[in-house]
Amino acid sequence: MSILSILEYPDPRLRTKAEPVKDVNNSIRTIIDNMFDTMYAAPGIGLAASQVNIHRSIIVIDISEKCDEPLVFINPIVSLDSGSHELDEGCLSVPGIYERVTRTENITVTALDYQGKTVELAASGLLSACIQHECDHLAGKIFVDYLSRVKQQRIRQKLQKLKRQRPKG
Ligand code: NI
Repeated sequence: MSILSILEYPDPRLRTKAEPVKDVNNSIRTIIDNMFDTMYAAPGIGLAASQVNIHRSIIVIDISEKCDEPLVFINPIVSLDSGSHELDEGCLSVPGIYERVTRTENITVTALDYQGKTVELAASGLLSACIQHECDHLAGKIFVDYLSRVKQQRIRQKLQKLKRQRPKG
C-alpha cells in the first residue's frame, strides 16, 4: 500500500488536464489502489489522479459511512441531466475550507471500471456533486473557481498562513 502526496491549491500542477487511459492494465490498477489508500488515509470521500500529480483520467470515490463502497471511474464522461442543488464542498487539495457550490442535481456518468469494462451510472445528491467535483479536477478545475475573486483570495491567504504554521517534517 502506498500513500501518495496530495498537491495543494494553488499549486499550478492542479491545472493540468488529464490524459485519457488507453488500456486498463496492472499499472493503472496499481495507481487506482494507491489512490484509494491515499483517499481513505486522508480521510476523504473522493480523489482525482490530478491531485496526486498523475495526469490520467481516473477518479476514486467512496461516500459510504463505513468506507466499504469504493467506486472508480476511468475516462469518465458526465452528462448533466436535470435539476440543481447546493452543497458545502471541501477538497483534499484545499484543506480545511468548505464552501457552498451549486451543481446539477441529476447526472449520468459513463466510464470504464477497474476491469476496463464500460459502466453507466445515474447519480444524484452527494454522489452526483462528488463525481462532478472530481471530474472538474481532471479538467484542471478546482471548486474554489466557482467562488468570488474575493473569496478565492481569502482562501489563498488562509492556506498560506496554515502552511507556515505547519511543522516541517
Ligand atoms: Ni477536490
